[in-house]
Amino acid sequence: MQLQGSDLAGKRVFLRCDLNVPLKNGVITDDGRIKASLPTIEYLLSAGASVLIAAHLGRPKGEFKEELSLAPVATRLGELLGRTVAFPGAVEGSAVISAAGNLKPGDVLLLENIRFTSAETSKEESERQVLAKHLASLADFYVGDGFGAVHRKHASVYDLPQLLPHAAGLLVSAEVEVLKKLTVQPARPYGVVLGGSKVSDKIGVISNLLNKVDVMAIGGGMVFTFLAAQGHQIGKSLVEVDLIPTVKELIEKAQKAGVRLILPTDIVVAPEFALDSQPTLVSANAIPANQMGLDIGPESAHAFAAAIVQCQTVFWNGPMGVFEFPNFAHGTKVVAEALTHVSGISVVGGGDSAAAVRALGFADSDFGYISTGGGASLEYLEGKELPGLKALDL
Ligand code: 3PG
Repeated sequence: MQLQGSDLAGKRVFLRCDLNVPLKNGVITDDGRIKASLPTIEYLLSAGASVLIAAHLGRPKGEFKEELSLAPVATRLGELLGRTVAFPGAVEGSAVISAAGNLKPGDVLLLENIRFTSAETSKEESERQVLAKHLASLADFYVGDGFGAVHRKHASVYDLPQLLPHAAGLLVSAEVEVLKKLTVQPARPYGVVLGGSKVSDKIGVISNLLNKVDVMAIGGGMVFTFLAAQGHQIGKSLVEVDLIPTVKELIEKAQKAGVRLILPTDIVVAPEFALDSQPTLVSANAIPANQMGLDIGPESAHAFAAAIVQCQTVFWNGPMGVFEFPNFAHGTKVVAEALTHVSGISVVGGGDSAAAVRALGFADSDFGYISTGGGASLEYLEGKELPGLKALDL
């Protein structure tokens, strides 16, 4: 069903959002995902519906954890919407049932962190079904708009929409439209820049993208497994030793596919992972034994940027270094800056990458599109079927 055109007047709409925002000491440090959820909420309210929102924060594993309460998110959402957001402080129980039953057109209610209930993330379909049935009883219609969670087979993402008339929200529709441009006949040259700490998270997407892209640049903590696979000394840098054979295969695959694989030639190293650790620039093939790589060097950043600006389609996921520490933020900054100069389509994928560009002072409008989904956008590009999209018939 299409959201636009559905008769929602007087209906109670259950809206699944991704409001998984970074928090420091109870303060939201990047409200991008809340802002990205506003158009659908406002659309539903203007269509005469009341809106009951469910979302997760972190991974509480089925237990109440004060620091993962959505209370600060309810407050921020209320500020951004300019209206009261009711927060019953629970996912289930009499307070929720009565608050949902009393919803009037124009009302907004946010449930407590849905992952405080273990059934949400249960591997047992029967357990998820019990929760999904309870949630279905609270509403007349389901809207799926939590793009960042569509790769999760969770009760509020996958099971619930199958029990109610449903539609994709405006954010999910926009995200899918953009990701389609990266998968169906992308404008060439097509380049991807991948970073972040773990190569294990990205094997699938790297392998799949090697069949599709012209250029692949790799930085971040995961690059040291690549450098180790090439036989270089990587000192104390992050490495996933068991993946070295797989990474060797990926390097061969890139060669066979004619993909230009760009790895850093210089690295900013330091003796330890700390804000004030003394940075030194070294060659990527000679990292001293007592040092760890914390950023790509300026020569590498320049090479990455030069490759990026020549592309007509660029997807970037994962920081190039420890951007939270100013001494190791340069590589990420240069890559972000290069993306802002792409004349075709540039997509920043992921909660972390999105938070990084904002923390480094870039505006959302500097980029073609900033996806709210990290794992979700990677799994989409990997070509996997995503449960939350399947349930919405997308
Ligand atoms: C994210 O931050 O990528 C989404 O909110 C999904 O969170 P998860 O990886 O804990 O499922």
